[in-house]
Amino acid sequence: MASDDQIDLFSLGDMAVGSAPAQPVDPELIPTDVKIPIPPGTYSNMEEIKAHCDRCHRCELGATRTHAVVYRGNVKAPIMIVGEGPGENEDLQGLPFVGKSGQLLDKILESVQLTEADVLIANIVKCRPPENRTPTPAEMDACRPYLLEQIRMVDPKIILLTGAIAMRNLLGIKQGITKVRGEWVEKAGRLYMPIFHPAYLLRNQSREKGSPKWLMWQDIQTVKAKLDELKG
Ligand code: URA
Repeated sequence: MASDDQIDLFSLGDMAVGSAPAQPVDPELIPTDVKIPIPPGTYSNMEEIKAHCDRCHRCELGATRTHAVVYRGNVKAPIMIVGEGPGENEDLQGLPFVGKSGQLLDKILESVQLTEADVLIANIVKCRPPENRTPTPAEMDACRPYLLEQIRMVDPKIILLTGAIAMRNLLGIKQGITKVRGEWVEKAGRLYMPIFHPAYLLRNQSREKGSPKWLMWQDIQTVKAKLDELKG
């Protein structure tokens, strides 16, 4: 029997299947235990998510953070930008992309007249991994439901994934970012585009045709054109 059918039987109150109905979980316990699910619709605004992230210990990153880093920008923005995880500046300020990478990201957005009103910026993991290491799969899994709730609430038309970790985590794409950056991927009624991480651009300063910076310039223009088209 498919699991959906089983859920239907329970919701009809048919106890003939023999198992006890699931106990309702106190949502206040979400930040305390990674086994407690975060179903869609758990949160009704971004501040509720932030309140939970601020006291979250669903993974070990909660033990070393200064601040949880949940979002900056417009909660009704048509574009969401998702990075990997907070760095040192973000951890200190409690805001995503406020260090050197963030300043470059803002410049990239400004180059096509996009501002904080047009975007909501968030990360795969909300707490800084020590020494800026890559978040582990368990950390990303523990944090993903918060991000999925953010996506549900913002309901953006376009989601930009900065770097391979964000791309793999949300789209499951295993190829390298260089292969797929700039390509639209349609999923569940939204348009996703993997783009280079701004930190990668900081390490590759050339602006020559075909360079990472030049490619980013192409990609952000494509994004702006798509947004204008969708706005009609
Ligand atoms: N890099 C990220 O991926 N996210 C941030 O918030 C800052 C740097």
